[in-house]
Amino acid sequence: MAAPAPASDAPDPSVAALIAARPQLSMHAHDGLLLEGVPLARIAGVLGTPAWVYSAGTMRARLAELKAALHGMDTQVHYAVKANDHLAVLRLFAAGGAGADVVSEGELRRARHAGIAPEHIVFSGVGKSVRELRLALAEDIAQINVESAEELEMLSAVAAGMGRIARVALRINPDVDAGTHAKITTGRAENKFGIPYAEAVELYARAASLPGIRPVGLALHIGSQILSVAPYRAAYTRAAELVHALRARGLEVSRLDCGGGLGIGYGDEPGAPVAAFAGVMRAVLGNLGVTLMLEPGRWLVGPAGVLLASVVLVKGHGRFVVLDAAMNDLVRPAMYDAWHGIVPVAAADLHGPAASVDVVGPVCESSDTFARNRALPALRAGATVAILDAGAYSAVMSSTYNARTLAPIAMVDGADWSVIRDRQVYEELWAGERIPPFLA
Ligand code: LLP
Repeated sequence: MAAPAPASDAPDPSVAALIAARPQLSMHAHDGLLLEGVPLARIAGVLGTPAWVYSAGTMRARLAELKAALHGMDTQVHYAVKANDHLAVLRLFAAGGAGADVVSEGELRRARHAGIAPEHIVFSGVGKSVRELRLALAEDIAQINVESAEELEMLSAVAAGMGRIARVALRINPDVDAGTHAKITTGRAENKFGIPYAEAVELYARAASLPGIRPVGLALHIGSQILSVAPYRAAYTRAAELVHALRARGLEVSRLDCGGGLGIGYGDEPGAPVAAFAGVMRAVLGNLGVTLMLEPGRWLVGPAGVLLASVVLVKGHGRFVVLDAAMNDLVRPAMYDAWHGIVPVAAADLHGPAASVDVVGPVCESSDTFARNRALPALRAGATVAILDAGAYSAVMSSTYNARTLAPIAMVDGADWSVIRDRQVYEELWAGERIPPFLA
């Protein structure tokens, strides 16, 4: 599951348990819910709602925790930009020593704009266009992860034409089940991603013979929101076998890109066990003599973000709590049935009698539902709530459906906070539109 709902017979974690499981959150009797040292009510007061808030301290601490777990291995972390592509987030991770994993021209441009050097950028993705490959080569980025024989030929032609050499990792499809939601599993043979395991050695040999291509290693990524290490062990074991097979053919392999996918706890359960994950890397890949690259997204940023929303009204004899945030802001519940914690921001709102409610948005679709049958303290119109773990695949997946403007973003750091994106203004919604002459 993308964010497994607690088993239907298990009660939802209480608001207190959700806060207790997140060191970045605390409830203060007077100031209400704090993210790091900043009362979220204060930010909602200035920015209005809906509004996103990111915790810089949480992102920094998580990168440090991951790097500590990897200690002693030859590793490089490339943050998966797709999870949260804000320039401030990219700058923060670059300052912490991470590079960037990008999947589009836009992400490559963002990473460069945030100050990430080309030698710290890896380009992944199943359908890079000629234009994107050209840009990657012109920038001379660290590595292009190639996902098919067709892409390899295309890249060779483009690189040779430009007189450049592309450092290439072949993304293999290890055909393992990551045990995650079907929409975000990527390492099964039936998924569109990667090169079939059985074809990898031949294609690598072909790559070594092509003009403009220097194969440097292999890449894999088996899915997202993975909570156990078993699928990683299976995939890494297959990758290690391939490295041996390639070397037996006299082919050089110096890098293995291990992908991302580490899951987080959306309820009060722990997230992916990072120390155990690093232990699997050490045990299965530690002696291969390759640089081990990682592309985590969600694990680094997911817990660091909240979406603030206000109750517009409560209808249906208390059954439906209608927020001013909607599926256009945060689409994960509608798209993956994802479970996100919802916590009142005012301490006084914690103490009302709990009721089972549906928390919904104002968009004209039944899928515009953040939570069903959720036990929450009674909330009145005007109350503010924080939807938790909205740092990954959240603001980046927003749309302007129903002509709703993109929400503003603030970042907190200790007791400090700053607006890092303004609320979109309505004129921006139609700024690029034209009425054709025949309708004028
Ligand atoms: N590398 C590659 C090649 C990927 O495709 C992805 C994510 C990552 C790294 C980072 O994965 P992470 O560490 O964040 O799990 N929108 C979905 C998740 C889609 C993941 C796509 N690929 C969601 O909201 O759950």
